[in-house]
Amino acid sequence: MTERYVVAIDQGTTSTRCIVFDRRGRLVSLAQHEHKQYYPKPGWVEHDAAEIWRNVEKLAPEALRNAGITEDQVAAVGIANQRETTLLWERDTGVPVGHAIVWQDTRTDDLVRDLLGAEGAKTVEHDSGLPIATYFSGPRVRWMLDQRPELRERAERGEILFGTMETWLIWKLTGGLHVTDVTNASRTMLLDVHTLDWSPVALEFFGIPRAMLPEIRPSVGVFGTAVAGFPGVRIGAALGDQQAALFGQTCFSPGEAKCTYGTGSFLLLNTGQELVRSTHGLLSTVAYQIEGGQAAYALEGSIAITGSLVQWFRDQLELIASAPEIETLARTVADNGGCYIVPAFSGLYAPYWRSEARGVIVGLTSYITKGHLARAVLEATAWQTREVVDAMNADSGLDLTTLRVDGGMTADNLLMQSIADVLDVPVVRPLAAETVSLGAAYAAGLAVGYWPDLEGLRQNWHRAAQWLPTMDPQVRATEYRNWQRAVERTFDWTR
Ligand code: G3P
Repeated sequence: MTERYVVAIDQGTTSTRCIVFDRRGRLVSLAQHEHKQYYPKPGWVEHDAAEIWRNVEKLAPEALRNAGITEDQVAAVGIANQRETTLLWERDTGVPVGHAIVWQDTRTDDLVRDLLGAEGAKTVEHDSGLPIATYFSGPRVRWMLDQRPELRERAERGEILFGTMETWLIWKLTGGLHVTDVTNASRTMLLDVHTLDWSPVALEFFGIPRAMLPEIRPSVGVFGTAVAGFPGVRIGAALGDQQAALFGQTCFSPGEAKCTYGTGSFLLLNTGQELVRSTHGLLSTVAYQIEGGQAAYALEGSIAITGSLVQWFRDQLELIASAPEIETLARTVADNGGCYIVPAFSGLYAPYWRSEARGVIVGLTSYITKGHLARAVLEATAWQTREVVDAMNADSGLDLTTLRVDGGMTADNLLMQSIADVLDVPVVRPLAAETVSLGAAYAAGLAVGYWPDLEGLRQNWHRAAQWLPTMDPQVRATEYRNWQRAVERTFDWTR
């Protein structure tokens, strides 16, 4: 019998990947293309959705070729995607209306300030499980429709469609199916997280016509059959990438958590079928829903800027030539020399939700070298993790005992050690580094019976690396205080 496989499409913030997995969850082949980042104004970040689709069209045959297989050996394809990135397109032509506005974009900060004071704001926050912030799609759709009144009229007639990236890709893959999944829908601010349907209150609040919204489906379940990209293959799953990583780390039980270190970093704690509300700045979000079953929820600590701070250090400051060099540079010095960088480039997310915050570098003296700056860059990720773990512990009433990590930045040993040090808990990384893709593959494979159940998937999780805390408690306390003082400086920069 010919061997069969599952393919994941991971449509991320900086690149798109196609990965082929076998029945044991092992990576068989990987193909990847970056797409252009557009920064038309300070705080604005855009993507060209047509370019992203072209990349998928190229990646699909590449991934199969690299694996030495054909479409008929693919049991299913699963999608994981950057969440909240917002796109409009024409139903008739399938042509995007301008660029997609990326999740990091802060152009809606004035609008968000107005909305925060508007009647109904508290109800929308309660129903969606999210604070009103520039991060989510709802304010972006409102902004786009406000720019061009004729768009709103066309949206009301169902001629202009809204979607996040999985919706766009499924539309292109299937030749016109307009659907989303519950995890992605839960990041729009338009979903009622209890009913798992679009919230009429939120639609009214943001002034968004229902006719432009996709149909909401469970994350795990057959969405349709591809006619492009992977012709003839069933699309078995779609999940937001962070939820996919939770799935890939097999955090299926309440109390299990992971943190993915990518462009931003996202700590998700599975809270089971119970929707837990945070009183410490975390999001209540949908973890996944398997067709025919109830949704599982998660508490999430979202950090906007971690890996993208390293990219900024590389591309804008040009202090390193490649991202991995940050570790070498940071190791040229013993400590941060008193320097702290708070990368509030997109405001500050969890636990602060201050859209108006902007980044600062504090503690500069003539003593500071680029080595100290490199350390401060890495430590910014560690301290931001500490802040969301503190919030998670306070909300759950439990102390996290180990942190499961994944994502590109986990290749940086100095950073992983620094995270173990500032959290004072062991940090562990699984053998499967591509957990976002693996989660999408697991979900798609489950939907078509390629894998029988969740329990079987747990057997594939193996620890590859562990970092134990070694930091002196006194130093930890002083450094944390310094970090928090630096964070306060980010709040009073604008207006
Ligand atoms: O919420 C944004 C998140 O989904 C982006 O993830 O890995 O593309 O930076 P990533």
